[in-house]
Amino acid sequence: TMVDKGGYPHFMLKEINEQGAVLRNSMAKRLAEGTVDLSAELPWTKKDVASWKRLHIVACGTSYYAALVAERFLETITDFDIRVDVASEYRYRNIPLGPDTLAVFVSQSGETADTLAAERIAREKGARCLAVTNVIGSTIAREVHDVLQLKAGPEIGVAATKTFMGQMAVLYLLAIHLAKMQGKLTPEQEKKYCDELTALPYKLESVLLRQESLQETAMLYNEARDFLFLGRGISYPVALEGALKLKEISYVHAEAYAAGEMKHGPIALLDPRVPVVVISPKDGLHEKTFSNILEAKARKSPVIAIATEGDDSLDGTADHIFFVPETLDQFTPFLTVAPLQLFSYFFARFLGCHIDQPRNLAKSVTVE
Ligand code: G6P
Repeated sequence: TMVDKGGYPHFMLKEINEQGAVLRNSMAKRLAEGTVDLSAELPWTKKDVASWKRLHIVACGTSYYAALVAERFLETITDFDIRVDVASEYRYRNIPLGPDTLAVFVSQSGETADTLAAERIAREKGARCLAVTNVIGSTIAREVHDVLQLKAGPEIGVAATKTFMGQMAVLYLLAIHLAKMQGKLTPEQEKKYCDELTALPYKLESVLLRQESLQETAMLYNEARDFLFLGRGISYPVALEGALKLKEISYVHAEAYAAGEMKHGPIALLDPRVPVVVISPKDGLHEKTFSNILEAKARKSPVIAIATEGDDSLDGTADHIFFVPETLDQFTPFLTVAPLQLFSYFFARFLGCHIDQPRNLAKSVTVE
């Protein structure tokens, strides 16, 4: 397929801006009238699902971070013994698995060598294997038992953005589908999740309309060469993805930490030259994260916070606050990751980097 930049200076910016549509596409024909139905794609019976005690999710790079976000939703609404790992580790470990395991392989391209190798091992050991991929004719899609497609459209930018969004959406639908089949979800809970998923594309688009302030913040810190990204709970994998984006396209060092671990090391790095990006939506862990913001400010680090609209608790403490609309605690990553993608994009653009094709990186890594 011929894909052009559609008037944008880079594919990455175009793809970030397509994410509302990506969310809608990933839910089309899967979510309607307050229920999720994946039975057209997944032939699983209740008996099949009941036979799976373990749920493994295996991936690399950005796909791994989408898996870590989904893990936190899955562990609250399903009954599985869940394990999430990077494919390059999973394939060489001796992890218990067998016919009692549903193994999910998340790969945008469906061609990543480590993910393919991990899938072959899991299938060999008797696990039921599902691929979540953007490419329906890919190697992984041909090898697994079941496939869920992202429907994000071709992604040209090497740094994954819209496919991360699509992966989270598909994994959330999978979580709801599995929870229902386990008898763990009431129709009321299901409707609550479905209503919020349906509202997310609009909320995300309202975030994408406010890019200018992120551009200004990115320019303000263009001399920084070390960034710390912090998040707790479901915002921790969002911090990991935000730091990865910045490293990938700007070549500036960025490290992500679970906010509560900051005191065990990274706090030693903090000074006025090290900005701290804190993903701090108004959820059950908000107050805990706020104490980390105070700790960073006490070391005179500039703090850039991603917070929930209407939350004034960071006023006067964080140096910059970017607000995202309110959503369910479990759904904040769909909204908080977008400002991080945009921040990295503008930061790298200011430095004159090759945004769509960063040095040393490949869109899909087909060798070990
Ligand atoms: C490469 C890409 C990343 C991607 C990772 C996994 O490192 O540059 O953007 O997240 O591979 O790729 P996959 O196609 O398996 O999701």
